[in-house]
This record gives sequence, C-alpha cells and structure tokens, in this order.
Amino acid sequence: MKKIVTFWILAFFMCATSILGLVHPAFFLLGLSGVPFGYIAAIITLTAYRLSPKGNDYQNSIHRLIVDASVRNGSVLDIGCGSGKLIIMLAKNNPGEKYTGIDFWGNNWEYSKQQCIENAKAEKVEGIEFMKGSASKLPFPDRSFDHVVSCLTFHEVVDLENKTDCMEEALRILKTNGTFTFFDLFEDPSFYRSLNDVAKTIEKSGGSVGQLQKLSEIMELKFPLGTKKVLKYGVLIVGKKG
Ligand SMILES: C[S@@+](CC[C@H](N)C(=O)[O-])C[C@H]1O[C@@H](n2cnc3c(N)ncnc32)[C@H](O)[C@@H]1O
Repeated sequence: MKKIVTFWILAFFMCATSILGLVHPAFFLLGLSGVPFGYIAAIITLTAYRLSPKGNDYQNSIHRLIVDASVRNGSVLDIGCGSGKLIIMLAKNNPGEKYTGIDFWGNNWEYSKQQCIENAKAEKVEGIEFMKGSASKLPFPDRSFDHVVSCLTFHEVVDLENKTDCMEEALRILKTNGTFTFFDLFEDPSFYRSLNDVAKTIEKSGGSVGQLQKLSEIMELKFPLGTKKVLKYGVLIVGKKG
C-alpha cells in the first residue's frame, strides 16, 4: 500500500507541474516525466487488485496450489509466512498437527507477527506458532519438520547473495522422507542463476524434485501478473528429502 500511494502521489504532482508549462515549456517536460510513475502506479495497483480477495484472489489461488501439493500429516514449517495466510490455510485443511510460521517481518512488507495471530484467530485456527527469524539461518536443529513450504520468500532474502542457499537451509531442517513445496521466482535471472541450478542445489541438499512447473502453465495469469516484474518467472517445485 505504501508503494502504491507513493507512486500515485509522485505521478500526480509531476504531471500537475505540466500545467506550469503555460509559464515555461521546461515545466511541461518535467510534467511528462510523471507519466512513467503513473504507469508504475497503475501496474502495482492492478497487481494488488488481482492478488486480493476483492479482485481475482490470485494470492489465495497460489496458496491453494501449495496446500493441494503438500502432503498431509506431520509438522509443517512455512518460511516467510507474511500475514500467516498460507500456514493458516494448511492448518485449517488438516487440524491437529504442529504448524509453525517464521518470518523476518522487516520494513519492506506490512506484515507482522501480531497480524498473523489475529488472522489465525479470525479463522478460528488455534495452536500455530509464529516466530521471528530469517530464512537464511533457521533457528531449528537438523531434521526438525516433516514438511516445509515457502511462497515468494527466498528471492527476498537480502542477507544471502545466492538465494539457492535458502533451499539448502530449508532442506537441512527437513526430516528424511519429509516433503517440500516451494513457490518462488525461480526463473528470474536477477535472483537465480537458472532453474537447472535451483534443481541441482535441491538435489545436492538431499532433496529429489517430483514436480517443477511454471505458474503460467498451471493457471492463466491476467495482466499484469504474467509480466516479468510480477509472476512470469514463478515456478512451483514440489519434492521429497532422501
Ligand atoms: C512476498 S511476501 C510473501 C508472504 C507469504 N509467504 C505469502 O505468500 O503471502 C515475502 C515475505 O518474505 C518475508 N521475508 C523477507 N526476507 C526474509 C527472511 N530473510 N527470512 C524470512 N522471511 C523473509 C517478508 O517479510 C514477507 O513476509
């Protein structure tokens, strides 16, 4: 929301200066430079709409995809749980297991531990443990969880230059025969060397990939979700350790 508001304000004020072009043509040029800001503002507004429940609810569809791909029974960790929606959905789907959500909850996102707790309460789901921590160094011993999931988080981890290290760490805390379901921008060259490199890292860390599928092959991505800056590079990877 902060980004959307900032871009709209910038676009508005820059475009508004074009009126001063009546006084001097230089102001008109300055006003024109507001157009790209307006375009970015429109794209991120439409993206937020498409992802939200008031729009096309894509965030929910992606979470549903992860839930459906994840094996039931046993302890589950969601790395980068954000507002808690995914781990809450998992817990609702299969009550009675041990669920943990971990997130860094930095300033980049308007998510917090309190928000997770309130969202779980609103969904009448009890017993999920929410904790602060980084995907780069998970505060759990080796082989602690039966299942590990993560949605759009690994590319965000700023303290790791090589984002594939997150997967090594996720697989470290996974039990033998445990399953993983990762969704991230695995095909985005600004975050990952290649999809092949991602798959190799998983294998080196003891995992075997069962499913590796582009999001665009699973569901139709309405504009602008199918573009490079949004979800074009999204890939779902499902597999098992050992
Ligand atoms: C795009 S949001 C996704 C949130 C959630 N997984 C979902 O699908 O709604 C990215 C999340 O990654 C979290 N994040 C960023 N860096 C992190 C880190 N080093 N460790 C854990 N979480 C991190 C952010 O706080 C944010 O909640």
